[in-house]
Amino acid sequence: MKSIIVLVAIVGIAAAGRPDTERVITTFKQIAPLYKPTIQEAQTIINAIKSNATNQLAELHLAIIGKKEGYVQQVIGREDYILQQISTQRSADQVCMSFVRTSSEMNVNLAGVSFTNCINAADEAIKTKLEEYYGYMGDYEQKVSLLRLLDVFQGQNVFHSPQPIIARLNAKMEALRNSSSLITENDAQFMINQVRNDMQTIQLAYSNCMGVAYGLLGQGLNMCEMQMTMICGAVLSCDIGKGMGNSCADVNMKLLVCVVLLLAGGSYAGRPGAQEVIEKFRAIVPGYLAAMGKDQQQLVTLERQGTDAIAQFHSDIMLAKETFVLSITGQEDTLIGLINAQNRSIADGQCMQFVSTALNETVNVIGVAYTKCINAADESLSSNISSYYGTIGELEQAVVDVRLLDVFRGDNVFYTPDSIVAKLRQKESELNANNSTTVAGEMREEIAAFQADLAKIRERYIGCMTVAEMSFRSYMELARQQLAVICGALLENAPNDVAA
Ligand SMILES: *[C@@H]1O[C@H](CO)[C@@H](O)[C@H](O)[C@H]1NC(C)=O
Ligand SMILES: *[C@@H]1O[C@H](CO)[C@@H](O)[C@H](O)[C@H]1NC(C)=O
Ligand SMILES: *[C@@H]1O[C@H](CO)[C@@H](O)[C@H](O)[C@H]1NC(C)=O
Ligand SMILES: *[C@@H]1O[C@H](CO)[C@@H](O)[C@H](O)[C@H]1NC(C)=O
Ligand SMILES: *[C@@H]1O[C@H](CO)[C@@H](O)[C@H](O)[C@H]1NC(C)=O
Ligand SMILES: *[C@@H]1O[C@H](CO)[C@@H](O)[C@H](O)[C@H]1NC(C)=O
Ligand SMILES: *[C@@H]1O[C@H](CO)[C@@H](O)[C@H](O)[C@H]1NC(C)=O
Repeated sequence: MKSIIVLVAIVGIAAAGRPDTERVITTFKQIAPLYKPTIQEAQTIINAIKSNATNQLAELHLAIIGKKEGYVQQVIGREDYILQQISTQRSADQVCMSFVRTSSEMNVNLAGVSFTNCINAADEAIKTKLEEYYGYMGDYEQKVSLLRLLDVFQGQNVFHSPQPIIARLNAKMEALRNSSSLITENDAQFMINQVRNDMQTIQLAYSNCMGVAYGLLGQGLNMCEMQMTMICGAVLSCDIGKGMGNSCADVNMKLLVCVVLLLAGGSYAGRPGAQEVIEKFRAIVPGYLAAMGKDQQQLVTLERQGTDAIAQFHSDIMLAKETFVLSITGQEDTLIGLINAQNRSIADGQCMQFVSTALNETVNVIGVAYTKCINAADESLSSNISSYYGTIGELEQAVVDVRLLDVFRGDNVFYTPDSIVAKLRQKESELNANNSTTVAGEMREEIAAFQADLAKIRERYIGCMTVAEMSFRSYMELARQQLAVICGALLENAPNDVAA
């Protein structure tokens, strides 16, 4: 409704000959300022979602490593307990005890395998979810970045059929004013909740997986203890893990107390490698996050620069289009004025009518040429925008692809902790090496290339319009000669050429 009122007000300033043609330009000019803030608003919401998702991802990593640490400590505590019990046995069968020792060690190694399986499953789930999010967000971003303006001219002629163009422009204006048609806070909240649910699900699955793994280890170690006492003839000492003030009434109770005591100390004495893994991992998380955050921030800048360049491009193109359209309507108005100013008893009225009709048709033909020019610009623009935002998407994917949990793949926190630590060190140096200066350099190139592409489109557009305009000027020269030579019109009666 608002836009109709605005349009009515503009009619007053339109040129006499082709008011709707001028209205196309004025409406477009009204839309252009709405375009940028709408896109930026949508981009801000999208970036808030991404940043929230990144933070949640980081929290998930920390939660997973925290959980892992708890279980690793428990396993080490239980292993320590058995090793200490074994070392205090004097009268038990030593060969038998050495079998138990190896058996308990194998149980711990097996626990390491199950732990790695749990973390692999979490890593896979995270990877799948991230791909899903980026696909989803990518759709929105494409929608936002490809929000086209120049496509309103498709299949229409700014001189012959301006009304459908105005109708499309009004529809776009309403959509832009209604930024809800892009992405809303509700959409954002929905996605953030979705991410939270997914992260919780992954974390829960990981906890369950670890619980089962630890349960199996517990069964294995309980069996070792039974074998020690029942087969090897060991007498479990309650001095091991003493000091909690609890009674040692029966073996089960004693075991519990001993384990609890060892856990309280958080001792890694038996497995320093496993401890190093946990500590290294924890130490890397902040750097990992900082690198990710910094890169994402730079990608946001890149996106914004792209939007600015596109907005500038549109206003440049419209300025060019306006100039070329006004040139045609001005020349047309001049010739019509010349015809109208002729003394009908000297110049041939019907002859001039033929010229006038031919002029009208020629202007329509130039309209076709103009549409071709803008369609070509629109197509190039779309492909260049897709390519630019596609590159941002790839950079973004690469940033998020820096995974952390994959260091556990193929390794065992108890059996091959050194290999995991080596991978963590590798990650650390990669994080340091790929500092954002490289990403920033790459990005400067991207935006420069994009701006160069836009400049090329603009140049080609102006070249295309100039060719059409020149052909119209040649036609105008011919029409004036026809009027003078054939129709007998007096050219010097003409009012001044307003467009020249
Ligand atoms: C994500 O967004 C929700 C709601 O907007 C907020 O409660 C939560 O703290 C955010 N989480 C992170 C990690 O930023
Ligand atoms: C604008 O928003 C209103 C209410 O949110 C909706 O009814 C209308 O269809 C929207 N218009 C467009 C063009 O999206
Ligand atoms: C038109 O031309 C005729 C003949 O030359 C002349 O009589 C008449 O006054 C002219 N009319 C005007 C309005 O100049
Ligand atoms: C120009 O031609 C169109 C049809 O092609 C017609 O509708 C319009 O009235 C004409 N305008 C003039 C000024 O003759
Ligand atoms: C930009 O568009 C032009 C014309 O469509 C094309 O030749 C050029 O390769 C595009 N540039 C990029 C980076 O896609
Ligand atoms: C760092 O950059 C190198 C090459 O530039 C690449 O091979 C490596 O995967 C990158 N590492 C990270 C963590 O992005
Ligand atoms: C980042 O890279 C630059 C050069 O590529 C180097 O001078 C700088 O020390 C690096 N910063 C870090 C923290 O590694």
